[in-house]
Amino acid sequence: MMTKEFASRIAATSQTGIEDLIPDPDNVTISFAGGLPDANLFPQAALADSFQRVLLKGTDNPLQYHNAKGYLPLRAYLQQQLADEGTPVDISQILLTQGAQQGLDLVAKLLLNKNDKIAIEAPTYIGGLAAFAAYEPDYLEIPMQADGLDVDLLEQLLSTNKIKFLYTIPNFQNPTGFVMSLAKRQKLIALAKKYDFIILEDDPYRHLRFAGEDLPALQALDDSGHVISLGSFSKVLAPGLRLGWLVTTPELLTEIRLLKDGSDLETPAIIQQAVTDYLTHNDFQAHWRKLQQDYRQHRDWMSAALTKYLPSGYQFSHPEGGFFLWLMGPADVNLDKLLREKIAPEDHVLYVPSTNLYAHKNVFNCARLSYAGTSQEQIERGIKMLCAALTPDLEFSE
Ligand SMILES: Cc1ncc(COP(=O)(O)O)c(C=O)c1O
Repeated sequence: MMTKEFASRIAATSQTGIEDLIPDPDNVTISFAGGLPDANLFPQAALADSFQRVLLKGTDNPLQYHNAKGYLPLRAYLQQQLADEGTPVDISQILLTQGAQQGLDLVAKLLLNKNDKIAIEAPTYIGGLAAFAAYEPDYLEIPMQADGLDVDLLEQLLSTNKIKFLYTIPNFQNPTGFVMSLAKRQKLIALAKKYDFIILEDDPYRHLRFAGEDLPALQALDDSGHVISLGSFSKVLAPGLRLGWLVTTPELLTEIRLLKDGSDLETPAIIQQAVTDYLTHNDFQAHWRKLQQDYRQHRDWMSAALTKYLPSGYQFSHPEGGFFLWLMGPADVNLDKLLREKIAPEDHVLYVPSTNLYAHKNVFNCARLSYAGTSQEQIERGIKMLCAALTPDLEFSE
């Protein structure tokens, strides 16, 4: 085999663990690992109609090259949605991306030189770590608490560390399911102004709240241009569309658009036009409500199964939205080793061990469980097997 001299970034990107989120899946495996939406809720027929209308009757050249900013009517739709939710922005502040994931990559590309410091929540989204790793930053890991990241610790670290940006998922955080409180949101904005860093707000689960009250986006609380926010149609419509958006100041957006030009020229026009058509012919808010009810049901199934089977010494979060629940085990348990050596190969149950969700890979006793894409029967059976594996000498009676 030819020996290639890879760029130094490859050493970091090959350690993120994102590729083995789903080790050896087969048809008997029950996976709580990937953050896959419930496929039963994709509006497939309505989207088929939209694609057909756009291709057969559309007047905006869906098969032609356009530009990196994205389809104007879709940006206008998002501008209205953002205004309704307390973030009035100019249309020139919105860029359509290939999923929120592309936004993570573009922001890191814009801001990071090798060994620049960034602050991240600990644990955090595995795909965020994968995107940032290519730019070889140094991480300040800020522990998550039930009301969001530890802003007091962040403040202490900021007095001696200059960071390029702070990455946060304020709503139904991936992987913990936690929501950042209003007080912490306000404090974070004040810190960004005082220490002059960007807040990268990644918010794909915002519209999947099924309990409690909505809180304002970080960008809605900022009047100083310190926030870049990312949204996505992946969780509320379908991830296969690969469609998301990025919102920031016109100055930052211009630079990011130039990077997108060099990366992929544009987000596919046909997708943007079909989604716009879908939004004009369907009641999208009614669709959200259906999703919210469905995911609440899934959360309830998983909470009930964990309450029933989980051995003592374990705890789990009770999210008010999103896809994920965070399992916390006794300090001496290694859920990474257990997954690889027993639970995946013998029980055919998968989850994401905490090791992959910390930049420094030094927390072993927690795991992310996704309840979104599995049925009631799979949740009951999978959680029962998982809990039996955590308690090897215990037999569960029916
Ligand atoms: C927090 C977070 N950010 C970004 C993404 C990627 O989303 P998209 O499909 O829009 O690229 C995900 C997907 O799981 C996510 O959970």
